[in-house]
Amino acid sequence: TAAVSTGAFAQAFPSKPITFVVPFAAGGPTDLVARRLAESMRKPLGGANIVVENAAGAGGTIAGTKVARATPDGYTLLVWHIGMAATTSLYRKQTFKPLEDFEYLGIINDVPMTLLGTNKLNANTYRDFEAYIRANGGKLNLAHAGLGSASHICGLMWQSAVKLDKSMTTIAYRGTGPAMNDLIGGQVDVMCDQTTNTTGQIEAGRVKAFAVTTAKRLDKHKLLKDYPSLQEMGLKDFNLTIWHGLYAPKGTPPDVLKKLNDALVVALKDPEFIKSQEELGALVATDNRVTPAGHKAFVASEISKLKTAIEAAGQFAD
Ligand code: MLT
Repeated sequence: TAAVSTGAFAQAFPSKPITFVVPFAAGGPTDLVARRLAESMRKPLGGANIVVENAAGAGGTIAGTKVARATPDGYTLLVWHIGMAATTSLYRKQTFKPLEDFEYLGIINDVPMTLLGTNKLNANTYRDFEAYIRANGGKLNLAHAGLGSASHICGLMWQSAVKLDKSMTTIAYRGTGPAMNDLIGGQVDVMCDQTTNTTGQIEAGRVKAFAVTTAKRLDKHKLLKDYPSLQEMGLKDFNLTIWHGLYAPKGTPPDVLKKLNDALVVALKDPEFIKSQEELGALVATDNRVTPAGHKAFVASEISKLKTAIEAAGQFAD
């Protein structure tokens, strides 16, 4: 009967590939966490195929809108970062509502950022760097991944914290994966990006790092421990950590959401997943933010926190 087959369908989730929509280009920090998470969620989802789709543009809001409007069946999910909470204050035109249009599945990780310069930049320490930017800011380019991206928020907050007379010219990319290539090549001068994308490049000497954005230095990380925190360098209260979360469209059936959340919880305990994040300076989420309610409450608190910071920096998009 129809009733039996409906039941069988619900039982069968997932019975076709799941798509993780990523709001930035391949090869960047969000793509990296999504692909790694897909590998670790596969087994707890019964060997399901999970594919990553990069839907870059407009600081992540294109992907956010796409998933908000997708069929709520658990097959289209969103992996997004702090932009979920920031873009609602940055964009005057809202194409989705972060607290109303999604089901919350859990926070994935917390990722510090590093302030970087191209190797050609005439500075080797944070003090030199700040002085150099103060003197030359108007002539320099800051790369970021679009309004509302983590790299954009960091650049905005840093420039407002050091009170530059002349802001750097900002150049938007489709993700910090491609932006990193131009920083290495010297086509842009400065970028603030997540350690998951920067650690390898710093270690290989392809870019210069000056500071980390967390309140304290990352004293447990073999490479990043050598860089001061911006607070240590006198930027009182500067504290920026990027987090990623997993979302489904509003209205996804509760039994499907439960399977997805259970699989996320298992994936976040996978030693391979933990190692992949810790090696790159990130921490896997372990607290109550890995529950739907904890995740949603956290995003709500981030929305209010970021609204204040964004309004203070006074930069908006239409
Ligand atoms: C990316 O994946 O490219 C980043 O998360 C971009 C950013 O937000 O800076």
